[in-house]
Amino acid sequence: MRVLVTGAAGFIGSHLAETLLSRGDAVVGLDDFNAYYDPAVKRANVATLVRHRQFTLREGDVRDSETLLDVCSGGFDAIAHLAAMAGVRYSIEHAPLYVDVNVRGTVNVLDAARATGIGHIVLASTSSVYGATDRMPFREDDPLGRPLAPYPASKIGAELMGHAYHNLFGLSFTALRFFSVYGPRGRPDMMPYKVMDCIYQDIPFPLYEGGEMFRDWTYVADIVAGIVTALDRPLGYQCINLGRGEPVRMADFVEKIEALVGRPAHITTPSAPASEPRVTFADISKARELLGYSPTTSVEEGLCLQWHWYQKHVGSGA
Ligand SMILES: NC(=O)c1ccc[n+]([C@@H]2O[C@H](COP(=O)([O-])OP(=O)(O)OC[C@H]3O[C@@H](n4cnc5c(N)ncnc54)[C@H](O)[C@@H]3O)[C@@H](O)[C@H]2O)c1
Repeated sequence: MRVLVTGAAGFIGSHLAETLLSRGDAVVGLDDFNAYYDPAVKRANVATLVRHRQFTLREGDVRDSETLLDVCSGGFDAIAHLAAMAGVRYSIEHAPLYVDVNVRGTVNVLDAARATGIGHIVLASTSSVYGATDRMPFREDDPLGRPLAPYPASKIGAELMGHAYHNLFGLSFTALRFFSVYGPRGRPDMMPYKVMDCIYQDIPFPLYEGGEMFRDWTYVADIVAGIVTALDRPLGYQCINLGRGEPVRMADFVEKIEALVGRPAHITTPSAPASEPRVTFADISKARELLGYSPTTSVEEGLCLQWHWYQKHVGSGA
């Protein structure tokens, strides 16, 4: 199979590209290496990929429709569209950027796919589309009308545009709603990395609401397994949760990291910003049914793998 992976230099995109290459697929990775976090980290993420003969790196911006047309004219069986502005809190002050990259960028991908005859697109969506809700666990048929920040609002927009293109032009479009992904190469703006970093550098870590919040942490290899099956199986139009289905209390999550690092974190306990839901909790029965999805990595195992990576690549200064 020939796959275009947008956002291939990012955390999840680089793991996805690696897995696709390892099973013999040809991959073109598109990324703009923007400075939302250190572009050197993204260069390191693709350092091994670029030496693979089945991998081609294209540097470019999904906001640029000409670039996308040019890349897509190479011909692909499917597109994994992961390029996005991905931070929830940064979106609070940067809504126009999130609309540009996450909504317009997705429309550009859809348009280029249509123009070049690529029939199947998988979008990286998010658990945060569920917004202000008391329904637990989150099911794909829950209403999405109350997003808490521009980031989830922009991902809802991207999902809806996928539906419009599916309806009008018959593209197959699967939106995978990822739940708090972590693991080696984990994003530096996300909690597991930040807790490790704060303990390592002996600086305070702000644990919202005293740690009485819950996240459905999901290990990156489990997420990638779900993406790969979704790429293999065009399903018309579907939105599918990819989580673990076992929310973890944040205070317990921090304790697990402290145990790995062997030192306590200096915790402060501010209130959570209004962008943060108290709980995320995936119902993964649809993923099990349609994708044969079955996450296997426990939070303890996954954090251990991320901590080993952190020590080797961040803590050591390498
Ligand atoms: N990490 C998570 O917990 C999580 C949860 C839910 C959804 N997601 C989604 O999964 C996808 C990947 O997330 P990630 O955690 O790997 O983030 P990431 O920031 O590490 O990866 C995104 C990549 O996209 C690239 N990119 C951003 N804007 C671009 C543009 N305009 N043109 C081309 N490339 C661009 C970035 O340079 C980056 O390498 C995103 O769509 C994100 O919204 C992630």
